[in-house]
Amino acid sequence: MAGNSLGKEFVVTTFGESHGKLVGVIVDGCPAGLPFSEADVQAELDRRIPQQNPEIVSGRIEKDTVTIASGVFNGFTTGAPICMTVENKEAISSDYEDMTNLPRPAHADYTARAKYGGFNDYRGGGRFSGRVTVALIMAGTVAKKLLNHFDVDVLAYTTAIGKVKMDKSLGFEEIRKSKFETAVRCPDLTRAKEMEEAIVKARKEGESIGGIIECVALNVPVGVGEPLFDALDADIAKALFTVPAVKGVEFGTGFEAAVLKGSQNNDVFQIRKGKVVTATNFAGGILGGISSGMPIVARVAIKPTPSIAKEQSTVNLSKMEDATIKVSGRHDPCVVPKAVPVVEAAVSLTLADHMIRGGFIPKVLKGLK
Ligand SMILES: Cc1cc2nc3c(=O)[nH]c(=O)nc-3n(C[C@H](O)[C@H](O)[C@H](O)COP(=O)(O)O)c2cc1C
Repeated sequence: MAGNSLGKEFVVTTFGESHGKLVGVIVDGCPAGLPFSEADVQAELDRRIPQQNPEIVSGRIEKDTVTIASGVFNGFTTGAPICMTVENKEAISSDYEDMTNLPRPAHADYTARAKYGGFNDYRGGGRFSGRVTVALIMAGTVAKKLLNHFDVDVLAYTTAIGKVKMDKSLGFEEIRKSKFETAVRCPDLTRAKEMEEAIVKARKEGESIGGIIECVALNVPVGVGEPLFDALDADIAKALFTVPAVKGVEFGTGFEAAVLKGSQNNDVFQIRKGKVVTATNFAGGILGGISSGMPIVARVAIKPTPSIAKEQSTVNLSKMEDATIKVSGRHDPCVVPKAVPVVEAAVSLTLADHMIRGGFIPKVLKGLK
């Protein structure tokens, strides 16, 4: 199965399946001299699962403990590949045994079986499970720490769950402070309650719902991105589309730009404090595939969780006849809250890769020791 690596200079390779022994990642190309330890990764893993409302997440508690096997010495990255793993302690594969021939609608069961001739580890969705995104989160902690060292800050948060939309405009610091207060990772505390209710309602109906996650990157210098084919927006979109259940990606005004006039959508230039800025940021911080120096703003649409308790039509692949399926087991009625840190990681990994490629980040971080 090829296609497990992302990036050109800051290269991330993930491995592991949902119900295998472990899930892990190798980060190759991280500059030497970045202060880094298991505690950095653990803090992120501990926040991954919203604890505030057990009704909106699956029964799987997934307490993950990271092991860093290489690439870190005396509290600093060494420049060698960083290998990080977490064990899969909670897998209950029996939930999936009787489903091997019944592909879940909207999941990867059918396409994976067709592509890999049935040899793929199907348990819990195998390589296509949301569980595998833990590897991206671990790699993302390295990227975020590296970016932070160069003042770049990346923050993702929920702006919509189903039909409930955040309608407050909040500052970066307020978002950072508030988003973890709510189980849905939405910094608008009033809407967050309504979002939770929408998820609980979906669960009770044997249903699932999706939502929207926004990700903002501050202080990305002007000039990051390698047009044409490694344009910054193209590579961020690619990373985001690798996150399971992401069905749309937009920057700035995004699809809305299609109905605006030029004068409404153009960001006019200004000189402020001796720097070129734009009065607005409809472009979402990227022009011609190159960062403009304005905040990068990307948004992803997440589809409803494929696994639902409601009866649906499917096919029985061994008998080659129509069948029905009701998915039991532990599934989140909405994957958006758990996908928030994954989106943050995907954007951070791409920015770290591009900032190294563009010479904005050196191969050795001097002056730290
Ligand atoms: C963090 C996370 C958790 C997920 N959990 C589940 C789940 O419990 N049940 C499920 O059916 N899908 C879950 N998904 C979505 C599926 O993995 C995804 O829809 C499937 O692999 C098909 O890929 P696609 O939707 O990108 O086409 C999750 C996704 C993410 C990002």
